[in-house]
Amino acid sequence: MKYVRKYWVISLFVLGLSTLLAACGSSSSGVADGKLVVGTDAAYAPMEYMDDKGNIVGIDIDIVKAIAEAAGFEVEFKNIGWDPLFPAVENGEVDFAVSSITITEDRRKTFDFSDPYFVANQLILVPADSDIESFEDLKGKKVAVQINTTGHEVVKGLLGNTSKDIVAPESMPLAITEMLNGNADAAVGDSPVVLEYVKNNPNVELETIEDDSFEKENYGLMVKKGNKEVIDLLNKGIKEIKENGKLQEIIDSYLK
Ligand code: ARG
Repeated sequence: MKYVRKYWVISLFVLGLSTLLAACGSSSSGVADGKLVVGTDAAYAPMEYMDDKGNIVGIDIDIVKAIAEAAGFEVEFKNIGWDPLFPAVENGEVDFAVSSITITEDRRKTFDFSDPYFVANQLILVPADSDIESFEDLKGKKVAVQINTTGHEVVKGLLGNTSKDIVAPESMPLAITEMLNGNADAAVGDSPVVLEYVKNNPNVELETIEDDSFEKENYGLMVKKGNKEVIDLLNKGIKEIKENGKLQEIIDSYLK
């Protein structure tokens, strides 16, 4: 009799524990709960960055909020950083990533992407007194890029995959700092971010250089491979904000 009672207490305890765990699980995130966790690298103004109060803001952030509203889900943003963002999507720490991520064939092997929502291209940033005038001119020079970005790929294409002339820190602001400190002759990065830097630093004498060899890059939202549920939701929102003009409105409000 004593045993029966003991088992009864144990099973009650187990039942309670599992109910508790289930409750915790459901309060986290996922399509079913109508709330998605969004990872980003918030050091990429004006696309995604931290404002003075420590809020994650920017064009990408407003776009995702508009997509969420249009498709009927809630979002919570997490500042993960750039390189760690990719494993965070893969291991489910975040439901998707927004980070000015260019849709590339290489990334498509490991991730799925939403429809494109923004177009950019690479831009070269140099000190105003530089003799660099084109992408070709970067040969034999030191070039700073954010690691594992499309800018990094483009520069590897010119200088070689293992070139010691490529300086590749973990963030774009650090890449620009390397150039300002004289550790690199130029920095290469996404056009909106390079232009924003120039705009925000009128007292630094800089020049930007476009080059026809830079291909158009489409930004997409990135999800774990096979997560059709989230992709469908995102594409539904993107379609709507493209059609009702909201997407263009957000972009224009920043990039005028
Ligand atoms: N568009 C480039 C890429 O996909 C750079 C994106 C970097 N984004 C960022 N938030 N740091 O590689």
